[in-house]
Amino acid sequence: MQLVFSGIQPSGVPQLGNYLGAMRNWVALQDRHDCIYCVVDLHALTTWQDPKQLAAQTREMTASLLACGIDADRHILFNQSAVHAHARLAWIFNCVARMGWLNRMTQFKDKAGKDRENVSTGLFVYPNLMAADILAYKASRVPVGDDQRQHLELANDIAQKFNHDYGVDFFPVIEPVIMGVAARVMSLRDGTKKMSKSDPSDQSRINLTDDADAIAQKIRRAKTDPHPLPEAPAGLEGRAEARNLVGIYAALADSDLAGVLAEHGGKGFGAFKEALAERLIAHLAPIAAETRRWLADPGAIDAVLRQGAARAAAIADPIVAEAERLVGLLRP
Ligand code: TYM
Repeated sequence: MQLVFSGIQPSGVPQLGNYLGAMRNWVALQDRHDCIYCVVDLHALTTWQDPKQLAAQTREMTASLLACGIDADRHILFNQSAVHAHARLAWIFNCVARMGWLNRMTQFKDKAGKDRENVSTGLFVYPNLMAADILAYKASRVPVGDDQRQHLELANDIAQKFNHDYGVDFFPVIEPVIMGVAARVMSLRDGTKKMSKSDPSDQSRINLTDDADAIAQKIRRAKTDPHPLPEAPAGLEGRAEARNLVGIYAALADSDLAGVLAEHGGKGFGAFKEALAERLIAHLAPIAAETRRWLADPGAIDAVLRQGAARAAAIADPIVAEAERLVGLLRP
């Protein structure tokens, strides 16, 4: 059975893009695979985090994942910094990956923007740590949103260069698992920007903790164009905001663009937005309630994370110890 690994940063409240692009698929994969899911607090440190907030957000992200349906008894859920194998392997990968490869990462360019001289070096080597997360378990299936595709290609380049440089067949090939019509959920304010938990505008996203009023209001105010919905997906071409809302609807209805447009094509956005808000509220309210239930018992969350870290370390430690031996590090 192929092992599944994926991670999410505790750098804010999870938003609808995280849910539709990743978390929901993580839950679905649990039926057919052994899964390891990680709250990547070391990755969050690559941009400034208030220390008091980071620990709280790590618990909150864990609560959200449990509320979405991650089964921490049958699978593994833990926070990255609790398993030292990630940082150990990341150092080796810092020495395998090439500057030129990292210079091409579009996410680094986006995040660093014009302030390149002033961002942390951690942000630059972020994808090396990500490769280490996956390969410390020799996991081969990685469910992510579309924005992570380039990072996974880089992880494969690192794995291959390691195997080549040390003359071994040690790390497997990683296969991105990018599922569904909402693998790229866009901002509600700008259909060309992805929805993100770090966007300064809260109106740009639906948070998994938003209440019914907030969801209804954000959807009502979501940017659209003045035309009615088209009858078929081809009519969404060049209409990024419309495409985004139809995609979200399709994901929630377990349908596709054509199915949604067959039902709603020709309608104005007023009626469609109402139907979309209704679906979102029905889908997210139980998750928000379950998240609150977990958050009322931080001791239970910590117990999940502790147990997950112990089980994760039991898999990763021998793999990373072998990688260290292969590169010639002495364990006297
Ligand atoms: P993060 O925390 O930014 O995002 C977590 C997951 O949510 C997906 N996602 C989206 N999907 C669709 N539409 C969106 N607007 C949207 N925004 C976020 C992301 O693609 C991701 O799957 N680098 C990773 C975390 C990570 C990781 C790993 C992932 C660290 N190590 C190892 C896989 C394997 C990230 O940016 O997460």
